[in-house]
Amino acid sequence: MAAPWSPDSWRSKPIVQVPEYPDPAALADVEDKLASFPPLVFYNEVARLRQKLAAAAEGNGFVFQGGDCAESFKEHGPDNISSYFRVFLQSALVMTFSGGLPVVKIGRIGGQFAKPRSSSIEKKDGVELPSYRGDIINGAEFTPEDRIPDPHRMLQAYRQSAATLNFLRAFLQGGYASLENVHRWALSFTKDKPIEAKYDKLADEIDRTREILCAMGVDEKNTRPLLTTDFYTSHEALLLPYEQAFTRRDGLMDTGNTFATSAHFLWIGDRTRQPDHAHVEYIRGIYNPIGLKCGPSLEPDGLLQLIDILDPKNEPGRLTLIGRFGSDKVDKHLPKLMRAVSRAGRKVIWMCDPMHGNTITATTGDKTRPLGRVKEEVERFFDIAQAEGVHPGGVHLEMTGKDVTECTGGAAKIVDADLSKRYETLCDPRLNAEQSLEIAFMVAERLRALRTARAHPHSGAAIASA
Ligand code: PEP
Ligand code: CO
Repeated sequence: MAAPWSPDSWRSKPIVQVPEYPDPAALADVEDKLASFPPLVFYNEVARLRQKLAAAAEGNGFVFQGGDCAESFKEHGPDNISSYFRVFLQSALVMTFSGGLPVVKIGRIGGQFAKPRSSSIEKKDGVELPSYRGDIINGAEFTPEDRIPDPHRMLQAYRQSAATLNFLRAFLQGGYASLENVHRWALSFTKDKPIEAKYDKLADEIDRTREILCAMGVDEKNTRPLLTTDFYTSHEALLLPYEQAFTRRDGLMDTGNTFATSAHFLWIGDRTRQPDHAHVEYIRGIYNPIGLKCGPSLEPDGLLQLIDILDPKNEPGRLTLIGRFGSDKVDKHLPKLMRAVSRAGRKVIWMCDPMHGNTITATTGDKTRPLGRVKEEVERFFDIAQAEGVHPGGVHLEMTGKDVTECTGGAAKIVDADLSKRYETLCDPRLNAEQSLEIAFMVAERLRALRTARAHPHSGAAIASA
């Protein structure tokens, strides 16, 4: 029998990657305030996401999770959010229509602020300061003042998340995500790029399909899937005092379930997945669908132990395993993990995060991710899943709608010397719009090949990778 869980039971466990606030009274005061604020998401939305993920776990869907590495207070403008949303919708559309599976859309947005760090100290020109841990914790400026953890930042993160979510909900309800608008989602700076021509071709096909549906008598204005879509928010469940304050019992729908109201989906990072520690303790008790990052140090037994804790009832849709090994390590680690999970009869979603295992230092000293490696990990993920008889259930990207030069490679052939042109991330390098679409088309081709293989199981050609 598992020990009793409560929203604060994590407090009696060892914890890593959280700040030590210098003023505990100020922290307690902020926690009380947060606990009195309205939730950001509603129980029914969370339950609906679980249902969609359950379908994906059974092979009838694909999850697209993507967004910023770390949201920032400074960049909380409408252009940022809308350009992100446009490229997100474009990428999801590509996966849905070229891939031919329902795509569950989960943004890394509306609360993705807290960052785990590989070192608690940052050194620059002989000066040592505590590392930046995300705007919800401390400031990115390399000054002693900025690096002091300040609990009041949680209040600002909450308000920013609420405003972002409100803006996204307006996009969805106001008709912007309608299939009528697929041509409008394209961003000005990708206009003359080959990838946009590819997207335009798909958008034209969608226009034509809509015309056919209308000619057949489908009432477009009353057909929800044509008018809007479901979009969910997610972030890493790292800053537990914040998460606890938003962990509430569902009273409105009377289920009595306790769930996180800070986002629809939360995940545990690769650095905080110790089974007897605080982060696993917190997340095991919430009703939300959850993710677990799986990196190269995770062995099959350790993974099975975590699955027992996080998804004791083996409910499809509850748990998504997000592999992030690196293109050079995925072959060594993913097959044995997939095999162990399948043998144990566990109904999880396997997702590929091709970002976090492929970060390297460029010749300029900047952190970057070569697109070739990112693509390679996605390709290997599909190959391995297919070989193991597992449904490749999703992809997890760090991406932005801004025309940044943070990841090298891709159609624009960004090289190390270009990185400084528009390197704006506060944390990890993100794919720009063109690079995100490149991955989306690649994923779509693999999904299409998978569908063909399922429809014609005896044709060897169908299984060859696209
Ligand atoms: C992240 O997703 O931003 C992250 C830090 O990932 P990981 O825990 O896999 O390193
Ligand atoms: Co990151």
